[in-house]
Amino acid sequence: KVTNLAPTPPMGWNSWNTFQAKIDEKLLRDMVDTYVATGMRDAGYKYFVLDDGWMAMERDKNGSLVADPKKFPSGMKSLADYVHSKGLKFGIYNCAGDKTCGGYPGTRGHEYEDARLYASWGVDFLKYDWCNTDSLNAREAYITMARALQATGRPILFSLCEWGNHQPWLWADGVGEMYRATGDITANFDKDKHMGTWTALSVMTIVDKMPAIRQYNGPNHWNDADMLEVGNGMSYAEDKAHFSIWCMLSAPLMAGNDLRKMSAQTKEILTNKEAIAINQDAMGVSAYRSSATDSLEVWVKPLSNNNWAVCFLNRAGHAQNVNYAWAEHALQDAQSKQSADFTKTTYKLRDVWAKKDAGTTKKAFKQSIAAHDAVMFMLTK
Ligand code: GLA
Repeated sequence: KVTNLAPTPPMGWNSWNTFQAKIDEKLLRDMVDTYVATGMRDAGYKYFVLDDGWMAMERDKNGSLVADPKKFPSGMKSLADYVHSKGLKFGIYNCAGDKTCGGYPGTRGHEYEDARLYASWGVDFLKYDWCNTDSLNAREAYITMARALQATGRPILFSLCEWGNHQPWLWADGVGEMYRATGDITANFDKDKHMGTWTALSVMTIVDKMPAIRQYNGPNHWNDADMLEVGNGMSYAEDKAHFSIWCMLSAPLMAGNDLRKMSAQTKEILTNKEAIAINQDAMGVSAYRSSATDSLEVWVKPLSNNNWAVCFLNRAGHAQNVNYAWAEHALQDAQSKQSADFTKTTYKLRDVWAKKDAGTTKKAFKQSIAAHDAVMFMLTK
């Protein structure tokens, strides 16, 4: 399934992180309205994705999936039409196994009929999970569903979600446009959450898994660092750091908060145009971690036109002083072969969160960075 549906990292909203299976058409229509009213759509978010929990517990007598009639009395086509009428694209969820992770009917053995049903509803995006898949081969299962989607003739972005267990970065290019690289995220900066049989990962645990696979990231095959937890309970600094790194990584940006209740700060983070521009840079090269000393990390992302983004991340639980003499740190990206020598070329600095120009690389960057906060610069000549 070779497409050009995701030349830059997909952006959207997904119901799971806040609502889990507690979704219904009233809530979702309100969310669509808020998506537009809050400026999320205008900031570049495009997909509106229903995660697990939208289905009735059983297929109908013809074997077709049905939307839960209590949650969706008007049916799925009607919701899809509503989403489209607001200039957004509609996404849905299922699973490669017999049942979804939430225990709803899975797609195994029904790939082509489910794909046809989604296409008839006007689905534009399918997130496809990996629970209850005993004895299935991951690559084969995802290829089968990719073919089924392709056979519908409708362009449907395919989002693989098998948590990186089968190294999808090695084979998902040409199968789907994005693939989860890790287990599930939780709204915690650096403490994983043990949930009994599984562990929900902190933002920093996920961050640490990304440098090893950065070389696989690129247009139409994105390493998915999971949906955003911005606005879901972390501090303003932590949310800003989380969003900064997702932008640096060129990771898909799927908001996961209740847009109806979002604070001004949450909105400011999610709709920061300059941060989003770094994420959406056409080159699509993921950042590398250029240094990590005393929990102070420097992340570097080459951008188009020989520009750069540089992010200073303070992982410590206390403020730390940065003193970064640009001239002592030539940037050198092995992947894009882009380099910058600040002793020869001066770049202008733009502070993406302060939204102001911040001098040039002639002068060292000296500042105290708060606990769990990040400062992100765009560098242009
Ligand atoms: C898995 C996925 C999550 C979510 C749930 C739904 O855990 O990784 O993102 O889709 O299933 O049950």
